[in-house]
Amino acid sequence: MITVENLVKRYDGYTALDGLNFSVEEGDIFGFLGPNGAGKTTTIRILTAIIKADSGNVVINGHDVFKEPMAVKEIINALPESNGYYEWMTAREYLEFFSNLYGEEMSRQEIDSLLEAVGLHGKEGHLIRSYSRGMKQRLGIARALINKPKLLFLDEPTNGLDPKGRRDIHDLLMDLNRKQGTTIFLSTHLLDDVERLCNRIVIINYGKIVRAGEVKKGTIEDIFFLSTKEGML
Ligand SMILES: Nc1ncnc2c1ncn2[C@@H]1O[C@H](COP(=O)(O)OP(=O)(O)O)[C@@H](O)[C@H]1O
Ligand SMILES: [Mg+2]
Repeated sequence: MITVENLVKRYDGYTALDGLNFSVEEGDIFGFLGPNGAGKTTTIRILTAIIKADSGNVVINGHDVFKEPMAVKEIINALPESNGYYEWMTAREYLEFFSNLYGEEMSRQEIDSLLEAVGLHGKEGHLIRSYSRGMKQRLGIARALINKPKLLFLDEPTNGLDPKGRRDIHDLLMDLNRKQGTTIFLSTHLLDDVERLCNRIVIINYGKIVRAGEVKKGTIEDIFFLSTKEGML
């Protein structure tokens, strides 16, 4: 589903991504793990065709992200790190607004089933202003599902949530992966997220991959702290 080769990104001479290579298979819940400043958001912005890389190749579902960004955008969507919500809208209005914006006319029933899928059914008439952070994240995921993406990017979706809110997001993502077969690219610095959700992970630090592989329960914490020690590769 995703192949990344020698990806390099510099900001004013600072090398944020220093030659990333990895791949994601269809059906994966792929954990992109790293401490703050590692380069997670930068990578997601490049993979979702929001910013350009300095060099390297990214192919998503057979399309070159730099040459065919529109073909890629059709089959992906993302929950960004800091998502803006129109607090004065209700959840239903918000989803109607974005479905029109995306040119995806959704019936009332389709919006209902989307609300149901993210666990906001019964709350759709409340103003977003009154939502908890966890509910807002779930609404953000609902928005990202409007175009029925094959591949969903989530940038630290559980950040700032309490344990119950985190668990709700975990359950929602597992459901999505199982029932719709959605491939999930999840960036996080929380070990609990990858232990519960991910079948494969990459750990990055200072823009470089320090570990890659399958997830074995109970081993992530050691691997993470060992591999993100200053200077260690
Ligand atoms: N727009 C930008 N301009 C300059 N430096 C940036 C910009 N965005 C990110 N960086 C820097 O690039 C590095 C990686 O950032 P980021 O991709 O946001 O990491 P993460 O999401 O893993 O916390 C950090 O050192 C950050 O300060
Ligand atoms: Mg980030």
